[in-house]
Amino acid sequence: MTKHEFVDWVLAGAASSPRESAEAFAPANIALCKYWGKRNDELNLPVTSSLSVSLGRLGTTTRLSLRENPDEILLGGRPLAPDTPFARRLRAFLDLFRTSEGPFFRVQTVNTVPTGAGLASSASGFAALTLALNQLMQWGLEPRALSMLARLGSGSAARSLYPGFVLWNAGHRDDGLDSYAEPLEVDWPEFRIATVTLSAREKPLGSRPAMHRTRETSILYQRWPAQVERDLFLIREALTERDFESLGTAAEANALAMHATMIASWPPVLYWLPETVEVLHRIWSARGDGLPVYLTMDAGPNVKLLFTGEHEAAVRRLVPDLEVITPFGAPASG
Ligand code: PMV
Repeated sequence: MTKHEFVDWVLAGAASSPRESAEAFAPANIALCKYWGKRNDELNLPVTSSLSVSLGRLGTTTRLSLRENPDEILLGGRPLAPDTPFARRLRAFLDLFRTSEGPFFRVQTVNTVPTGAGLASSASGFAALTLALNQLMQWGLEPRALSMLARLGSGSAARSLYPGFVLWNAGHRDDGLDSYAEPLEVDWPEFRIATVTLSAREKPLGSRPAMHRTRETSILYQRWPAQVERDLFLIREALTERDFESLGTAAEANALAMHATMIASWPPVLYWLPETVEVLHRIWSARGDGLPVYLTMDAGPNVKLLFTGEHEAAVRRLVPDLEVITPFGAPASG
């Protein structure tokens, strides 16, 4: 099945009567149990399920309106040249929903994710665009269908449709119609994530080719699905019991296993910088001294810390220049 056929299937029976304009917000998300590896590149179907936490008010707001050919794309209020990689990716996504006759759009995208903080904006970007399209075209689609459409833009965008903790079910079907995310009913106001920005430079290898290389060449990849199954189980159990230390342990083990699997690829996929390793040692040493702080990392050199509100002041002392996020909107303490 091609992406186009998939979209036609999801939109079959949906109404379509375009309005003048629409606006939608979607949060960024950080995976606690990572998605790494596709079983189908065309439909962005993952090998394993994954679980994330959305970042509250940090994310992307997208405003869409209809216009004459060609599309106009504005990022943070500034027009984007049509041949930039971002503009191409965005147009390729919009092409899934139209013919060469149109419709064409003005897309105004504003990220509230701090730039360079190592928080992927593609997830919130494609989720916000999908939500805005649903409103503009008045499709009236359910979140489950929207999650599957956002998935075609970027895998992790499937999870950015919802606030809080989110599970993306890998599904089993070849056509991808059972691969969507859903929210978990867990409210945890004390939960904190902080980003440690070590490098704001563009990553040398994007997640798509890196996943591909890992799957094709890393001898450790065979072990990855079993690792995810174990970590997902532990994380879901820890969420139910609000057991922060079990959650942190499983999330950290999962992220490090993903990086170990990448490093065993050929050529190796190593996103870490010397500063990354320095932060890891600082965290482990503080934890050894009794501070319940854990870490996770994505496809880049930056580190994200996991802790609870009561330890925020201590974590800030440990790592200055932190960007602290309260995913459940509780006021920051300390
Ligand atoms: O959605 P993508 O293609 O940007 O891949 C996301 C990969 C990780 O951020 C490393 C893991 C995840 O589950 O978000």
